[in-house]
Amino acid sequence: MQTLQVSLDARSYPIHIGRPEANEFGHMLRDAVPKCSKIIIVHDESVARFAARNAMVIAPDSRSIHLVSVASGETSKSVEQLDRLWKTMLSLKADRQSVLVAIGGGVIGDLVGFVASTWNRGVRFVQVPTTLLAMVDSSVGGKTGINLPEAKNVIGAFWQPSLVWVDTASLDSLPDREYRSGLAEVVKYGVILDEAFFRSLEDRASDILGRDDFAVTEIVKRSCELKAQVVAADERETTGLRAILNYGHTFGHAIETLAEYGTYLHGEAISIGMTMAGMLALSLGRWTASDLERQTELLARFGLPTRIAPAIASRFSHAAMMDAMLLDKKTSHGRLHLILPSRIGHVETVVDAPLELIEDAIDACLG
Ligand SMILES: NC(=O)c1ccc[n+]([C@@H]2O[C@H](COP(=O)([O-])OP(=O)(O)OC[C@H]3O[C@@H](n4cnc5c(N)ncnc54)[C@H](O)[C@@H]3O)[C@@H](O)[C@H]2O)c1
Ligand SMILES: [Zn+2]
Repeated sequence: MQTLQVSLDARSYPIHIGRPEANEFGHMLRDAVPKCSKIIIVHDESVARFAARNAMVIAPDSRSIHLVSVASGETSKSVEQLDRLWKTMLSLKADRQSVLVAIGGGVIGDLVGFVASTWNRGVRFVQVPTTLLAMVDSSVGGKTGINLPEAKNVIGAFWQPSLVWVDTASLDSLPDREYRSGLAEVVKYGVILDEAFFRSLEDRASDILGRDDFAVTEIVKRSCELKAQVVAADERETTGLRAILNYGHTFGHAIETLAEYGTYLHGEAISIGMTMAGMLALSLGRWTASDLERQTELLARFGLPTRIAPAIASRFSHAAMMDAMLLDKKTSHGRLHLILPSRIGHVETVVDAPLELIEDAIDACLG
């Protein structure tokens, strides 16, 4: 078991990563949330058995623990689910000392974190991420929230967990495509912050793809460390530092918008988005062709797309992409702020990159 600390003054919390011994989770949970009256586990329906097992570990007598299942999928980050969970909390007579435990991917973490931030003006919560994306990204940093039908992530709060518990065994049931999608964010951390980490991903690609337990623990740990450092330096996205986590995401969100829902998983769209950003950085002379090639090769090795599929390329006109990119929330006052690499391990914010070069970078990844 590996442990690291997210340093946020009074809101600091530990992240434990590995395959736990029999009762380890129960002990750690009681340490992290002392004097808790009730534990409410909210889990993704696809990890029901894993959640039930953990419930047994935490409270073998099952009196003070409740399990609530939520349907899988992004549509569960909704006002309806929020309402349902609030009412469940009411019927369970949940008080200020109650603790919520989120077991699932980013959808469950975001939803349950937001319930925790609002119930009784805020109760403690624990993240147990079960997708690679949630382990390396969404469970760290305290962003919680839900969607409106018209707009993603527009309702939310910053609310830090008391503990993040990454049981790598939970990945055993995760479909390969979801696992690879999470690897896109892992590659992102290497490109934006850590060349040595990027090199270790290149060196250990086959162990990582084979989900070797040691390799998985290492990539989750380093990714969490890097994200935790950024979050500690800019908890509420006020200094601009946290924006570097958005590398590949302005292009990627536009790709998610224009491709039909479900065509690309988030990490797949980010992989193409990072390739577009990398192309733009190359044409601006900000980094070298060999840096870009290393990034593209590693993404491809992890089975991630680096180009838009020919069948849907016609949807990606310059106008449609620019409109979608300007709608991205990282835009400010109608000016595109793009995170672009200057080498593997370092990125910078670039404002007002020339439109023709952005369009060329998009075209270079079409079909
Ligand atoms: N809060 C943040 O900082 C942050 C950061 C990035 C993403 N997010 C959010 O995270 C969400 C995406 O997260 P995600 O990719 O984890 O998606 P997800 O939660 O929808 O999980 C992906 C799929 O995997 C299934 N699943 C989860 N764990 C499983 C397991 N162990 N075995 C088998 N199936 C399993 C789920 O049922 C779902 O079908 C988005 O809503 C996004 O907005 C939040
Ligand atoms: Zn992302």
